[in-house]
Amino acid sequence: MGIDLGHDGAVATITVNHPERLNAMSRMLLTELHGVLREVANDKTVRAVILTGAGDRAFIAGADIKEMYNLKSGESLAFARLAHTVANGIESIPVPVIAAVNGFALGGGSELALAADFRFASTKAVFAQPEVTLGIPPGWGGTQRLVRAVGEARAAELIYSGRRVKSDEALRIGLVNEVFAPEDLLPAARKTAALIAANSGGSVRLSKRLIALSRTGNPVSALAEEAHAFADIFETHDQVEGMTAFLEKREPVFFHD
Ligand code: CAA
Repeated sequence: MGIDLGHDGAVATITVNHPERLNAMSRMLLTELHGVLREVANDKTVRAVILTGAGDRAFIAGADIKEMYNLKSGESLAFARLAHTVANGIESIPVPVIAAVNGFALGGGSELALAADFRFASTKAVFAQPEVTLGIPPGWGGTQRLVRAVGEARAAELIYSGRRVKSDEALRIGLVNEVFAPEDLLPAARKTAALIAANSGGSVRLSKRLIALSRTGNPVSALAEEAHAFADIFETHDQVEGMTAFLEKREPVFFHD
């Protein structure tokens, strides 16, 4: 049981590994995931990240209910804050994070997947926010990130009903970008991560920072910042190399620190 971290070139894969409990997240696992996220965020050699669950049944089946059901109110506040720190940690990794959802992504599992930049799913993926069926509201960011992903009305229906969403519906409502056969999910995530990692790392990181500004609700200042970021990248190695390579009809060799 634990959080596994693997590296394949510039792609890091983080795997929640507790399949006996469908990768449900205890405080211990959340704390370990937080540590791994910090390690990955500080590793300059990593240019794309995949987040997935071990086994063939679950991405993450939510908070560990066996641990959670005993919490007192103050403890549950600390639990929610810990999970928020982890979800924010996923969201704020400077490079793109792909959630590869291979099975159940329920409650906190769905909420952690929603903190990734985007989601790929297997045909076996099942999403839900079943918190209200357990007598609680979502507490790991779902009220905000699910709204952002699928719109307020759809998020409201899913959160109020707690019903399950299979991969085909998840694709239709924009909860996931693409759906793959189970055996093709990780290869597809790796392929996309490799595409990202081959691009100008500085430009990808900058793009992620600019996309994040869309959440501040201030498009005027976000666009102003985009213009400055665009200007600042000119005359850097990657801008000169990327455009020179295009003109010389060859592959660019970007700077990777
Ligand atoms: N917490 C603790 N243990 C869990 C778990 C969870 N969230 N999900 C699954 N498990 C455990 C089961 O208890 C079981 O362990 P035992 O064999 O020791 O009993 C093992 O994983 C396998 O699960 P099942 O036997 O239940 O497998 P199943 O195929 O019959 O059902 C399932 C699968 C539909 C996912 C079912 O396990 C389930 O409903 N799990 C709970 C899902 C859930 O409600 N998650 C949301 C939690 S709330 C939350 O996350 C709040 C929030 O905002 C953060």
